[in-house]
Amino acid sequence: MKKFFAATLVTLLLLTTTTFAAQMPDNITVMQALSSRHSSRNFVERDLTESQLTKILWAANGINRHDGKRVVPVANGVFSVDVYAVTREGVYRYDPMSNGLMLIVAGDYRMTTTTGQSFVGKAAVNLVFVETPDAWLSAKRQPPREAQIACANITVGAMVQSVALAAQTEGLGNCVRGSINREEFAKVAGVRAENILLAQSVGFTK
Ligand SMILES: Cc1cc2nc3c(=O)[nH]c(=O)nc-3n(C[C@H](O)[C@H](O)[C@H](O)COP(=O)(O)O)c2cc1C
Repeated sequence: MKKFFAATLVTLLLLTTTTFAAQMPDNITVMQALSSRHSSRNFVERDLTESQLTKILWAANGINRHDGKRVVPVANGVFSVDVYAVTREGVYRYDPMSNGLMLIVAGDYRMTTTTGQSFVGKAAVNLVFVETPDAWLSAKRQPPREAQIACANITVGAMVQSVALAAQTEGLGNCVRGSINREEFAKVAGVRAENILLAQSVGFTK
């Protein structure tokens, strides 16, 4: 009986490992992706496939374990950063639980994520990383506000590098961007301008 349970457990573990591994790009090694990492600004108008978009968002903030923890580390187990995806078709919020996108508004709002860099309007997707300070309300310990902001920025640092690596493996370019029209994007996405931390363009390049 014991052997049966052990065998079942191993099978389940293998199945779950395969499920998570199947979501991870595997065409180049991490070291190859790191050695070719660079910013790209020569994007062309071409949509990502659904699978590519899912991989990019999963790399940014996806769940990679059964306890709900993520690809990127967070302080005190508090998930205080949301990822928005701004494409030719609309503005969406990434939902890690369903590994899917929640539509906020339809339409091309890509240029609201920049202060004027024209390549942004061509990039297939512009990710916007937004802090959600309310996430700390359920935490046992409430760090001072400056520490919460620092924690969110550190997580965003991990997110953008994770996305950069995933983009490399998909043959896509990326550019991290701090120059964002925060007032405009805040209005469109229904977030607070001061919570907008960083953006990142991802897409096919020339
Ligand atoms: C916090 C941060 C903000 C950045 N903001 C912008 C930006 O607004 N626009 C842009 O074109 N590049 C931006 N970059 C990309 C840098 O210009 C780029 O990483 C740097 O020139 C080094 O080039 P490399 O990424 O190709 O190594 C930013 C990078 C970081 C880390």
